[in-house]
Amino acid sequence: MDIVHDLNELRSLTRSHRLNDKRIGFVPTMGALHEGHLSLVDTAKAESDIVIASIFVNPTQFAAHEDLGSYPRQEEQDLAALRARGCDVAYLPDQATMYPDGEETRVSVPELGAKLEGQFRPHFFGGVATVVTKLFNQVQPDIAVFGEKDFQQVQIIRRMVADLSLPVSIIAGETRREIDGLAQSSRNAYLSEKERSIAPVLNQAMHRAAKRIRSGTAITTCLEEAQETVLRAGFDRVDYIEACNADTLDPLTEHQTDYQARLLAAAWIGKTRLIDNIEI
Ligand code: PAF
Repeated sequence: MDIVHDLNELRSLTRSHRLNDKRIGFVPTMGALHEGHLSLVDTAKAESDIVIASIFVNPTQFAAHEDLGSYPRQEEQDLAALRARGCDVAYLPDQATMYPDGEETRVSVPELGAKLEGQFRPHFFGGVATVVTKLFNQVQPDIAVFGEKDFQQVQIIRRMVADLSLPVSIIAGETRREIDGLAQSSRNAYLSEKERSIAPVLNQAMHRAAKRIRSGTAITTCLEEAQETVLRAGFDRVDYIEACNADTLDPLTEHQTDYQARLLAAAWIGKTRLIDNIEI
C-alpha cells in the first residue's frame, strides 16, 4: 500500500493509474477505523480497480465546544487495517494542504444541511461539504463510498455532487452493527461499560417505532414512545427521533406510501452523542 502525504505525489500516482485505464474508488475517513469503514473499502474494491482511502480529521466540521481535540487518532493501527484490507493508497494530507492560509472558499448545501443534524450542529455540513469537495478535487475518483450510518451526510453529498456536476458516483455502504444492534462508530470508544450496555436501546426503540408506524399507529405516538424508551433506559438527552422522507428529509406527518421513509435519531449518553437511522 502506498502511503501518500503530498498532493503532488497523489496527483502523479492517480494520473498514472488513469492513463492505465484504472477506475479509482475513494473512501474518505477521519481515521479511528472500525469494521464499518473497512467494509466501505470492500465495497470500493468491488466497484473499482484502485482504492484510495483518506484519513483527515477535518476541523471545520467540529464546533469549538466539540471533540476535535480528543477525537480518537490511531494512525499506525489505521494504516495496518487498510493494508490488511487490500487498500491500494492511504492519503493523509496535512492541515496546510486541506486549508491553505487565508482559505476563504466554502461549499454549503443550506436547505438539506439545516434539517435534523443541522439544527444541533449548524457548522457541521458546511465543513463536510467543503472538505469532501476538496478531497474529490484532489483524488478525482470515479466512485466514492460513504457509510449509510451518516444518512443525512450521504444525501447532502449526493445533492452537492448533482448541483456542482462533480464527475463521481456516490455509493452508500450499509451500516455495520455490533451483535446487539448498536451502529459501529468511532465515537463508541468513548462509552463507559455502563453506557455501552444502554446504547443499543436506541436502535431497539427505533425498530419498534418503525414497526408500529408500518402497522398504522400515529407517527407522533410512535416517536414519543421511542423517545420515552430511550430516556427511561438511561440516555441523558434525545436531540431528535424523526420519521422523514428519505430524499428531502422533510418530516413524515401522515401515512404516506408514495416515497421511501427513514427514521433518524441522535441522542446523548453522558458526553457521547450517538446517531442512527433505519428504513421505515
Ligand atoms: O464521515 C466522515 O468520516 C467525515 O464526515 C468525512 C466524510 C470523512 C468528511 O470529513
